[in-house]
Amino acid sequence: MKFFVDTADVKEIRELNELGLLDGVTTNPSLILKSGGSIADVTKEICSIVDGPVSAEVVATEYKEMMREADVLSKIADNVCIKVPLTLDGLRACKSITSSGRLVNVTLCFSANQALLAAKAGASFISPFIGRIDDMGVDGMELISEIRTIYDNYDFKTEILAASIRTVNHVKQAALIGADVATVPPSTLKALVKHPLTDKGLEAFLADWAKTGQKIG
Ligand code: E4P
Repeated sequence: MKFFVDTADVKEIRELNELGLLDGVTTNPSLILKSGGSIADVTKEICSIVDGPVSAEVVATEYKEMMREADVLSKIADNVCIKVPLTLDGLRACKSITSSGRLVNVTLCFSANQALLAAKAGASFISPFIGRIDDMGVDGMELISEIRTIYDNYDFKTEILAASIRTVNHVKQAALIGADVATVPPSTLKALVKHPLTDKGLEAFLADWAKTGQKIG
């Protein structure tokens, strides 16, 4: 499973990238707002840090303007992945942009049929929003499962990018189902390493080691 980080915070991205944990980054207009920077500057800086795809989202809702924005965003760096919303215009833009050789992430997916359409439109990634579905009292993970089945039935190459992840359990469930990618907030990504028995075991080893009076090297 690939790990993308779901943030536009350059400091956090740099830190996680140094750990060797990042395969890519996803941003959205809300995350750009939170970063306080301009989409051009922030995206450029992120692309210089991370080698993998960096999703930058168009904000137009009509095909022609989406294509113009996609063109502007594409020029920022080679690893920019254009993010388009799951609308008819977004799907049309997806088809055109992928035909030109660019990666496209189709976002705001909340149903299996939407995911089917995105795959038909040649999307590189489909982003089902697990957490936002859970918020409605419905199991978001069920959607990941349905999309996996549909994509496998027809051998679609579109990668399932589990998005709107809120918990470490979301990551585990998405991995068990076979999502290709999880885009995870920095705090959740770091929380994956935590286990009380690891902390307890390390503490005991270090205490015994101190009693030996030895040094390595
Ligand atoms: C993914 O690309 C989206 O930016 C993100 O996962 C949305 O997450 P949220 O529902 O926590 O805003």
